[in-house]
Amino acid sequence: MRRTNTCGELRSADLGKEVCLQGWVRFSRDHGGVAFIDLADRYGITQVVFDPEALPAGVDAKRLEETIGTFSRESCVQINGTVRNRVEGTEDARNPTGEIEVLITEAELLNRSKLPPFELGDQKEGVLPDEDIRMKYRYLDLRRTDMAQALVFRSRLVHIVRQYLEQNGFLEIETPILGRSTPEGARDYIVPSRIHPGTFYALPQSPQQFKQMLMVASMDRYYQVARCFRDEDSRKDRQPEFTQLDIEMSFVDMKDIQDMMEGLVSTMWKGLYGEDLPTPFPHIAYRDAMERFGSDKPDMRYGLEFTKLTDVVRDAPYKIFQNILAEGGIVAGMNLKADIAGSKVGRNDVDRYIAYAKKVGLGGLTWMRCEDGKLNSNIVKYFTPEILENIKVTMGAEEGDLLFIVAGPWKATYESAGFLRKKIAEDLGLIPENEFQFFWMDQCPMFEIDPVSGKYDAFHHPFVLPQNDLDDDYVGGACFDLCLNGNELGSGSLRIHDPELQKAVFHKLGLDDERIERNFGYFVEMLSYGAPPHGGIAIGIDRLCAILLNRESIRDVIAFPKNRRAISLLDGSPSKVDDDKLEELQILSLAGDLDIGDIEEPMDEEN
Ligand code: AMO
Repeated sequence: MRRTNTCGELRSADLGKEVCLQGWVRFSRDHGGVAFIDLADRYGITQVVFDPEALPAGVDAKRLEETIGTFSRESCVQINGTVRNRVEGTEDARNPTGEIEVLITEAELLNRSKLPPFELGDQKEGVLPDEDIRMKYRYLDLRRTDMAQALVFRSRLVHIVRQYLEQNGFLEIETPILGRSTPEGARDYIVPSRIHPGTFYALPQSPQQFKQMLMVASMDRYYQVARCFRDEDSRKDRQPEFTQLDIEMSFVDMKDIQDMMEGLVSTMWKGLYGEDLPTPFPHIAYRDAMERFGSDKPDMRYGLEFTKLTDVVRDAPYKIFQNILAEGGIVAGMNLKADIAGSKVGRNDVDRYIAYAKKVGLGGLTWMRCEDGKLNSNIVKYFTPEILENIKVTMGAEEGDLLFIVAGPWKATYESAGFLRKKIAEDLGLIPENEFQFFWMDQCPMFEIDPVSGKYDAFHHPFVLPQNDLDDDYVGGACFDLCLNGNELGSGSLRIHDPELQKAVFHKLGLDDERIERNFGYFVEMLSYGAPPHGGIAIGIDRLCAILLNRESIRDVIAFPKNRRAISLLDGSPSKVDDDKLEELQILSLAGDLDIGDIEEPMDEEN
């Protein structure tokens, strides 16, 4: 008999059916001659039973018992048998197949498993083995219900997305993996050319330039579930290779792109959860996001907002603030209300937060507590009573409230303060679980000035359409991010379609004509053949799945990720290449044997 059912399928409606199941022996136990086996596959787990007393006439119980005796854990086996009710009181309500079991009448070992290096059964939190072991035996790790469910979820999500985009007239078009370096801000992975020694392809950091070319090629609506490659330090939300849902549209404005994406996300929501997702998503301007939440991808599910105090403390004879303000810096405060601060944040905690603030790059952390109607702390003597009163009113401070005040250069200070805000929220359990808040972060600048070199950098990338004259003091960019619960899910923009404007932006970014010609000549030329107005967006599929599934890291929603040190423990890459291959490529053998133990630990993944 061939497989009749999966291990997640049988219910009490199937009572009495003759079935054939194939799967893996997850767990087995013997109860006085009656053997129970949890037979697992990606669909679920079904209990199968060897019960000699209940066997129909003609079945050789002894032979059957011998065969089942060879079933080691995680062996691949086949059983034939009859669906029957479980003994009353032994049903398992958590398992959809938990009302029934299959009485084994025939059994076959399809392939024996060595003893697995870790337990694949239901894991309580914290008992999972080290992630590197899971990665080395990923094919076993993926058998775990948790991981199998993540892959099923991801596949469904991508399927819904594809359906939606096809229905809306998008074409799925593949773009090259071997190409020229694209300026997305990370290092490229480069691939040597054998035919043209000394030259290299770059793996795409994103299909950005090709999708723009497809608009010039009149494709109008493009999408791709695109693999992207970036040589950057690993984080929980970053992998060297990852997947974007990449989209480009012609003849659109920003709202058209956002409307299309809101339609996509809400369709996906309905398909996955059967619920309506409220649209349109709210918007927040970049500057407000930074100044209120200390992040360009703020988690707005909880408060702890910052309030600007720069003008309030401008005349305070407090040296530290004076120096910072003289250099054009900012001062901002956060109010931990009495119900949080009074009961949960004591003096020791304040010291802990001061230490944390320093660790995340703040020069220090000033605090004041509202007691007996006045602000109190070790530094109030540096402030006049009027200024203290003004701080109190501006911050809305009431009895028992605790104020944290940060000061320093605008961007760095708000960013670090954002880490502090998150830390406090985590410590105090202020972040609601299972609440999903999508929003658009927009009104971004076109450029940022590198504080060290003083040079202009693109805020997103150099193809974003500027919103005003490039010589204006402030230049806005027609770009935006889609954010979810403190994460950047995706970013998009309208693009430049005028070759002269594109060149002017490159100039502003410090590229001279020779460099523009060398690196982007083909791209600028392409724009001069009637390029349509166009724009698009790319969403990180790995991030989206990880957030929706509440997984710690995107590694948990990728079948075969690299570990935190960008190593694939499964196949041992990156690996040394034989000298003859390098000779063929005319590359000298530079590296010695890769010693995994010698590679530096990555930075703290939190930040
Ligand atoms: P951007 O560089 O912002 O934009 O990338 C878009 C989205 O891709 C995801 N992402 C990553 N996910 C996992 N690991 C990484 N290393 C990684 N890097 C980025 C994030 C991010 O929001 N071409 C532009 C998009 C456009 O303008 O259309 C781009 O790539 O979720």
